[in-house]
Order: sequence, then C-alpha cells, then structure tokens
Amino acid sequence: MKNQRSNWRGCKDWIDFGTPLTTTSDEACKLYDAVLTQYVGWYDESSVGGIEASLDKMVAADPNFVMGHVIKNGLDLLGTGRTIELDPDFKKDIYSLEKTAEQQKVSPRERKHVSAVKLWAEGETSKACDVWEDILVDNPLDMLALKFAHDSYFYLAYHPQMRDGIARVMPYWKKSMPLYGYLLGMHAFGLEETNLYDRAEKTARMGLDINRHDAWATHAMAHVFEMGGRQNEGLQFMSATENDWNICGMIACHNYWHYALYNIEKGNYSDAVGFYDTQVGPLAAKSGAMLDMVDACSLLYRLQLEGVNVGDRYNDIQEVCRQHLDDHVLAFNDAHFMMSCLGSGDKLSTEKLLESMRSFVKNGKGYNCAITREVGLALCEALVAYDYGDYSKAVDLVSPVRYQVIEIGGSHAQRDIFNQFLIHCAMKSDAEEHNKLARQLLVERKCLKENSPLTDRLMAKAMVHHTG
Ligand SMILES: [Fe+2]
Repeated sequence: MKNQRSNWRGCKDWIDFGTPLTTTSDEACKLYDAVLTQYVGWYDESSVGGIEASLDKMVAADPNFVMGHVIKNGLDLLGTGRTIELDPDFKKDIYSLEKTAEQQKVSPRERKHVSAVKLWAEGETSKACDVWEDILVDNPLDMLALKFAHDSYFYLAYHPQMRDGIARVMPYWKKSMPLYGYLLGMHAFGLEETNLYDRAEKTARMGLDINRHDAWATHAMAHVFEMGGRQNEGLQFMSATENDWNICGMIACHNYWHYALYNIEKGNYSDAVGFYDTQVGPLAAKSGAMLDMVDACSLLYRLQLEGVNVGDRYNDIQEVCRQHLDDHVLAFNDAHFMMSCLGSGDKLSTEKLLESMRSFVKNGKGYNCAITREVGLALCEALVAYDYGDYSKAVDLVSPVRYQVIEIGGSHAQRDIFNQFLIHCAMKSDAEEHNKLARQLLVERKCLKENSPLTDRLMAKAMVHHTG
C-alpha cells in the first residue's frame, strides 16, 4: 500500500527513538515495529504476512522478548475478549510474561507495560489505563502505551481521556517520526466523542492528507457525519474513499457499519441490508473479533427496530456469540450478544446469558462487574422483556438508568441503539405515561440532531399513536 511503512526499526533504531526494547534480536525488534504499525493502522501488511504471522515470527525470533509478549497478549485481549478467569492457557501466558520480565533487566517502562497488561487481563482496564498514562509522562513517544490506552478509553467510553491522552503527547512528536500521522486520527476521534465536531473534522482531514489509508481518521470522519446529521456527505465520503479504508481489515467491518447507518437513517433499508449481507455479516463471522461481532448484532437489531424483517441472518453470528456468553468483558458486548440470542430465537442461550450475568454481578470482580450490576443487566433484561412483548417492563428497566448507559462503553453512535430502543419500548408500552415519555424523548433527540429522518419517522408514528 502506498504511504504505508516497510522500513522496520531494529534494536539501535528503537534506542535512538527513545523507547529501547530489551532484546538482542534485531529481527524481533523489526517485527515488533511491523506488529505495532499494523495494529495502529488497523491493517495487515502483506510483506510480513499480516499481523498474526508477524506476531508469531516476532516471538520465534526471541521467545523471551518481553515487549513482544506484551503486545501479543494485549492484542489478544482487544480482539478476542480472552479473560484469565475463563481461559487457563491465557492465565499461563500472562504469568509466564511476568516471570520472564522478572528474570531480565528490563527498563522501568517495560516493567510497567507488563503490569498494565496483567491488570487488563484481570478485568481492571481502567487501572491499566492509569499505568499506560504513567508510562507516557516520561515516555510520550511510546506508541504502544498510547494506543492501548486510546483503544481502552474507546471501549470504556472514557471520552475526555481519549481526547486529552493524545493532546498531551502531541508536542513531543515530529511530523517526520514513524506513525506520526495516526496521532491525528486518534485525536480526531477523541475530539468528536467530546462533541468538538469542527475540530475533529479538521484534524481527521489532516491525518488523511498524510495517509489516505488511515482508516481510523476515516472512522473519525464517519462519526462527525453521523453525529451532525450529515448523512448525504457521509455516504458520499465513504463511497469516494472506500478503496482507501476497506483494505484495513481490522476496522473495515466497523467502517461499513457506519456506512450502513447513514442508509438506515435515510430509510434506505435494502442498501443497509446489502451492506450487512456483503460486508458486515461475512466480515464479522470470519474474524470473530468483538468489534465486528457487536457491529453485526447492532446493525440487524437497528433494522428490526425500523420494522425490517432480517430473516435468519442472526444465525451465523450467533454461532460466535454463543461462545462468549460467560466472558463479561464489557456490558456493551453482553447487550449485543443478547440481541443475537433473541434475534436467532436461541432461547437456551438467552437464559444462559441472563444467568451468567446474574452470577457475574453476584460473584465477579473488576470494573465491568460494577457496570453490569448498575446498568448492563437491566439493559439485557429489558431486551428480553421487549422480545416477550412486555414493553412497559422494558421501559421501567431502562428509563431509570438511561444516563448511566454511557458507562457500558463504546461510542455515542454505537450506544444510540439504546436510545432508539427505549423510544420503541415507550411507544409500544400500554402505559400512557410511557407514550408521553416516548414523545419527549423524541423531542430531546431532535434537539440534539436536527437532521434525522429516523427521528422524524418515529415522531410521525408517535403522533399517530397519540391522536389515534
Ligand atoms: Fe465508530
């Protein structure tokens, strides 16, 4: 790909850059750079065989390479939702990493990386972020700390931290440094999630000027169009740049999800279903990555809320969701798994997920346990109630916690499904006060995003209901 890197940094290059790596293997250092670059750029570089092959070759080049194992375990946590609670092999990997680090004279920075990845594996993502930030105070050029923190903030919905974490280190970076351009895409997304849309757009465009294949900068643009009600511009932009970002396999599915959302908003349901059938569904079923899985569930559920019959489309993704019912990595994921359980008519998994969440709330620990207790379980119980036609119960479950839904993680655009869900519950409820609430929620929605055909359609429906 043009504008992508291939001149990987060896041992001395990392020392010169100011973030030395403890290994004597030049090959391991170069492959670490290749892995980091592919991770930051969300793509597979064919000259090194893609990110998975680079990871394997890096560890083979030096099996005791501490930072190699840090990035490998971190990427496992991000992509697959592995937890040390449920996966004994993963637990062994994390403890053996700790031991390897103890046996070597690694730097304080590398030691902190080990403790951060361990905290992360234990479900203490928020505490892991504190450690990455601690690393960045002395080492603002440590891209791995920056990117792990950035992605974790995204999943935790720590929006100001996502914006400020990049802003703090920007002055230390020079345009000529490898991976510099990606900082702009990351910063743009943080600006967008804190409602600074104009600055977000300007920053994302600067990132894309440096590298048109920066699919995360494209993603920030997609959010700017989504939140500003600029569906036509969004459609035009995604279409015009499609071949720049769809080669970035780790984010392509999510960007197609955004592309499909503009179509749902405009009522172009067959186009949105087309995106599911040709991109989001197959990509999610193939990768099994959590980000792709939740997108697939979300897209189908949004179509259903709009009254579209999605047929048996949940079946393929339910095969994957079914394997993650006990993970409880994020309440956000669990709520999407529940959509798949219900959508596929898998009653056994529906019950299993509810039971597993109740047991997690009672016996579990970590950041997500508190969030699940506070809001995640109520959301899933509401989804089940809605499916059974008990709309009034669903409103009573979600309405009191609607301002806590942000805590389950994800972006504003992703969590909008729960705003839409509550409105549908309230509209369908047989309680008059719920119908009134629906109309007020729609007014509130219109106030935030003026140009929203979806809101207009729901408002028209709510008024017919009201006057009928
Ligand atoms: Fe997004």
